[in-house]
Amino acid sequence: MSKGQALFASAKAARENAYSPYSGHKVGAAILTSDGKVFSGCNVENASYGATTCAERVAIQKAISENGKILIHEVLVITDADPAWPPCGLCRQVIAEFASPETLIHIANTTGKTTSVKFSQLYPDPFTPNRLATSTDPT
Ligand code: THU
Repeated sequence: MSKGQALFASAKAARENAYSPYSGHKVGAAILTSDGKVFSGCNVENASYGATTCAERVAIQKAISENGKILIHEVLVITDADPAWPPCGLCRQVIAEFASPETLIHIANTTGKTTSVKFSQLYPDPFTPNRLATSTDPT
Protein backbone atom coordinates (compact mmCIF):
# COMPACT_ATOMS: atom_id res chain seq x y z
CA MET A 1 0.00 0.00 0.00
CA SER A 2 1.41 3.45 -0.96
CA LYS A 3 1.66 6.25 1.58
CA GLY A 4 -1.25 7.98 -0.19
CA GLN A 5 -3.42 4.87 0.07
CA ALA A 6 -2.43 4.45 3.72
CA LEU A 7 -3.40 8.04 4.44
CA PHE A 8 -6.81 7.58 2.79
CA ALA A 9 -7.48 4.24 4.51
CA SER A 10 -6.42 5.59 7.89
CA ALA A 11 -8.64 8.70 7.62
CA LYS A 12 -11.57 6.63 6.39
CA ALA A 13 -11.24 4.17 9.28
CA ALA A 14 -10.99 7.00 11.84
CA ARG A 15 -14.11 8.58 10.35
CA GLU A 16 -16.09 5.51 11.38
CA ASN A 17 -15.36 6.41 15.01
CA ALA A 18 -16.67 9.97 14.69
CA TYR A 19 -18.71 11.13 17.66
CA SER A 20 -21.09 13.50 15.94
CA PRO A 21 -24.61 13.18 17.40
CA TYR A 22 -25.30 16.92 17.00
CA SER A 23 -24.24 17.65 13.43
CA GLY A 24 -24.69 14.13 12.12
CA HIS A 25 -21.54 14.63 10.01
CA LYS A 26 -18.77 12.08 10.32
CA VAL A 27 -15.33 13.48 9.51
CA GLY A 28 -12.00 11.64 9.38
CA ALA A 29 -8.49 12.99 8.98
CA ALA A 30 -5.00 11.59 8.69
CA ILE A 31 -1.64 13.29 8.61
CA LEU A 32 1.62 12.05 7.15
CA THR A 33 4.69 13.37 8.96
CA SER A 34 8.01 14.17 7.33
CA ASP A 35 9.46 10.99 8.86
CA GLY A 36 6.77 8.83 7.29
CA LYS A 37 4.41 8.28 10.21
CA VAL A 38 0.62 8.40 9.88
CA PHE A 39 -1.73 9.64 12.61
CA SER A 40 -5.50 9.74 12.30
CA GLY A 41 -8.44 11.44 14.01
CA CYS A 42 -12.19 11.90 13.87
CA ASN A 43 -14.44 14.75 14.94
CA VAL A 44 -15.46 14.61 18.60
CA GLU A 45 -18.53 16.72 19.33
CA ASN A 46 -19.83 17.94 22.68
CA ALA A 47 -23.19 18.90 24.19
CA SER A 48 -21.52 22.27 24.75
CA TYR A 49 -21.13 22.70 21.00
CA GLY A 50 -18.08 24.98 21.15
CA ALA A 51 -16.10 22.22 22.87
CA THR A 52 -16.23 20.16 19.67
CA THR A 53 -12.88 19.18 18.17
CA CYS A 54 -12.47 18.66 14.43
CA ALA A 55 -10.91 15.50 13.00
CA GLU A 56 -7.79 17.34 11.80
CA ARG A 57 -6.99 18.75 15.23
CA VAL A 58 -7.56 15.39 16.90
CA ALA A 59 -5.05 13.81 14.48
CA ILE A 60 -2.50 16.56 15.18
CA GLN A 61 -2.94 16.34 18.94
CA LYS A 62 -2.51 12.56 18.82
CA ALA A 63 0.64 12.97 16.71
CA ILE A 64 2.22 15.44 19.13
CA SER A 65 1.33 13.47 22.23
CA GLU A 66 2.54 10.17 20.81
CA ASN A 67 5.53 11.40 18.85
CA GLY A 68 6.61 14.87 20.01
CA LYS A 69 7.07 17.69 17.52
CA ILE A 70 6.22 16.84 13.92
CA LEU A 71 6.49 18.38 10.48
CA ILE A 72 3.30 17.70 8.56
CA HIS A 73 4.00 16.56 5.02
CA GLU A 74 0.40 15.79 3.99
CA VAL A 75 -3.10 16.03 5.45
CA LEU A 76 -6.14 14.14 4.20
CA VAL A 77 -9.64 15.03 5.37
CA ILE A 78 -12.61 12.89 4.42
CA THR A 79 -16.38 13.33 4.71
CA ASP A 80 -19.30 12.05 2.71
CA ALA A 81 -20.03 15.57 1.48
CA ASP A 82 -19.86 16.48 -2.20
CA PRO A 83 -18.14 18.82 -2.74
CA ALA A 84 -15.88 17.58 0.04
CA TRP A 85 -15.02 19.73 3.03
CA PRO A 86 -11.69 21.51 3.34
CA PRO A 87 -10.21 22.10 6.83
CA CYS A 88 -12.02 24.84 8.76
CA GLY A 89 -10.27 28.09 9.67
CA LEU A 90 -9.35 26.98 13.17
CA CYS A 91 -7.81 23.76 11.83
CA ARG A 92 -5.88 25.74 9.19
CA GLN A 93 -4.30 27.76 11.98
CA VAL A 94 -3.40 24.62 13.95
CA ILE A 95 -2.01 22.94 10.81
CA ALA A 96 0.09 26.09 10.18
CA GLU A 97 1.98 25.54 13.44
CA PHE A 98 3.41 22.24 12.14
CA ALA A 99 3.27 22.54 8.34
CA SER A 100 5.04 24.31 5.51
CA PRO A 101 3.55 26.22 2.56
CA GLU A 102 4.33 23.11 0.46
CA THR A 103 2.37 20.72 2.69
CA LEU A 104 -0.25 18.93 0.61
CA ILE A 105 -3.87 19.01 1.72
CA HIS A 106 -6.04 16.27 0.24
CA ILE A 107 -9.78 16.95 0.40
CA ALA A 108 -11.63 13.69 -0.11
CA ASN A 109 -15.04 12.17 0.06
CA THR A 110 -15.99 8.63 0.80
CA THR A 111 -16.45 7.81 -2.91
CA GLY A 112 -12.72 8.39 -3.30
CA LYS A 113 -13.08 11.69 -5.17
CA THR A 114 -10.14 13.79 -3.96
CA THR A 115 -8.74 17.21 -4.73
CA SER A 116 -5.29 18.24 -3.56
CA VAL A 117 -3.95 21.72 -2.89
CA LYS A 118 -0.84 23.16 -1.36
CA PHE A 119 -1.37 24.50 2.14
CA SER A 120 -0.27 27.95 0.92
CA GLN A 121 -3.35 28.01 -1.32
CA LEU A 122 -5.69 27.31 1.59
CA TYR A 123 -3.98 29.62 4.05
CA PRO A 124 -1.77 32.11 2.23
CA ASP A 125 -0.62 34.28 5.15
CA PRO A 126 -0.66 32.15 8.31
CA PHE A 127 0.22 33.33 11.77
CA THR A 128 3.30 31.19 12.45
CA PRO A 129 5.72 30.83 15.40
CA ASN A 130 8.44 32.88 13.67
CA ARG A 131 6.24 35.97 13.96
CA LEU A 132 6.49 35.76 17.74
CA ALA A 133 10.27 35.41 17.45
CA THR A 134 10.55 38.64 15.44
CA SER A 135 8.04 40.58 17.52
CA THR A 136 9.19 43.74 19.29
CA ASP A 137 6.50 43.41 21.95
CA PRO A 138 7.81 43.69 25.50
CA THR A 139 9.01 40.39 26.96
N1 THU B 1 -15.49 19.30 11.11
C1 THU B 1 -14.29 18.66 11.07
O1 THU B 1 -14.07 17.66 11.76
N2 THU B 1 -13.33 19.18 10.26
C2 THU B 1 -13.49 20.31 9.50
O2 THU B 1 -12.53 20.82 8.94
C3 THU B 1 -14.82 20.89 9.34
C4 THU B 1 -15.81 20.50 10.38
C5 THU B 1 -16.53 18.75 11.99
C6 THU B 1 -16.83 19.59 13.20
C7 THU B 1 -18.26 19.19 13.50
O3 THU B 1 -18.23 18.01 14.29
C8 THU B 1 -18.85 18.84 12.15
O4 THU B 1 -17.75 18.64 11.29
C9 THU B 1 -19.77 19.93 11.58
O5 THU B 1 -19.16 21.17 11.59
